[in-house]
Amino acid sequence: MSTYDVIILGGGAAGLLCAAMAGQRGRNVLVLERSEKVGKKILISGGGRCNFTNVNASAANYISANPHFCKSALSRYRPRDFIDLVDRHGIAWHEKTLGQLFCDGSARQIVDMLLAECAAGPGEVTIRCNEEISDVTHAGDQFTVRTQYGSFTAPALVIATGGPSIPAMGATGFAYDLARQFGLKVVEPRPALVPLTLGGDEVLFRELSGVAAPVEAKAGKTSFREAALFTHKGLSGPVILQISSYWKPGDPLAINFLPDATAGWLVDAKRERPSATLRAILREHLPARLADVLADQLGLEGDLGNKTDKALHAAEARLARWEFHPNGSEGFAKAEVTTGGISTAELSSKTMESSKVPGLYAIGEAVDVTGWLGGYNFQWAWSSAFAAAQAL
Ligand code: FDA
Repeated sequence: MSTYDVIILGGGAAGLLCAAMAGQRGRNVLVLERSEKVGKKILISGGGRCNFTNVNASAANYISANPHFCKSALSRYRPRDFIDLVDRHGIAWHEKTLGQLFCDGSARQIVDMLLAECAAGPGEVTIRCNEEISDVTHAGDQFTVRTQYGSFTAPALVIATGGPSIPAMGATGFAYDLARQFGLKVVEPRPALVPLTLGGDEVLFRELSGVAAPVEAKAGKTSFREAALFTHKGLSGPVILQISSYWKPGDPLAINFLPDATAGWLVDAKRERPSATLRAILREHLPARLADVLADQLGLEGDLGNKTDKALHAAEARLARWEFHPNGSEGFAKAEVTTGGISTAELSSKTMESSKVPGLYAIGEAVDVTGWLGGYNFQWAWSSAFAAAQAL
């Protein structure tokens, strides 16, 4: 039986940073990782360049049953703190858009940086890959983790095994099973940042596969403005991924195809160019294939000059709030993250420690805190990891 100060389950973004920071506080840390290597999601993130934070990260960019929970951790380890770390390692980066920071080179640099931080000491961080955890128990003040290679004990156990998104990469719902074993509640996990699928009458939009346009997407009271992309299954692109985290099955999704248009623009167009067609006008603002499908659906053939103002106002209103009825999403197989997870109700927002089971911590995506697209999820991984490490 090997004994440590801390055992961290999962060598992903949160687990590695937590291990490094606990090690730097003099703790002897064991990281148990199921895959053959650590940081797999970091390596594929941001198209291989890792969108490692977002300079604008605040509680408003996160979804959770308790929207206040993430505030404390986010305020104590900010994007600036992670940028300073990246700078200390000489990793070049750039802001792409909307506060999103990416490596100039490769996501590999972030994993290497985390591993170098783990090796910095004074505490020793041991990372063991290919470990299948068969059993976790808690007796007295010690946690014991059994794997196919042996038994490991520590007075502190950190759940950092992430969420079930992209099972093909080894992602599992292990965190939830473990949380339930220890009597912690789990908020229903759902795929998020995920493409949506269209069926029924809306399959005709799948013919637009490959067409992209900047739109506004709205679900309930939440809306985002970015590019939408039609796919052979339905809808994707940044704006759809963002809104998918808020969309609930059965609800409509409203798309404003011309979010910059002013009220009455189509009637104005009729006055200025009565011999123009709706199709031609739409083609001036939208990709031609999309303009054609929308014009066909609106059914206003012929010159604008022959249409009533009422009909044009109705067309304008529909273009500003085109209701799609997605019949589902592409699921965990394609979801970038998972909403829901270990309930924050039983975790300390300062330390991520369970109030029910002292010494048990949960960090990163395993917890019911989910960020928007754009570096927010890694920032939560870093901030929650830091919060836990300060208490270990
Ligand atoms: P993470 O998933 O990183 O790590 C969990 C670790 O636990 C994994 O190494 C896993 O193998 C291991 N594990 C699972 N079950 C286990 C078990 N039973 N025993 C032991 N180990 C186990 N976010 C962002 O901010 N910017 C971005 O650019 C991207 N890009 C991106 C692209 C793609 C394709 C995906 C799928 C996701 C992103 N994300 C992202 C999201 C981001 O990757 C994610 O939120 C973080 O990696 C979460 O960090 P965690 O450490 O919590 O989990």
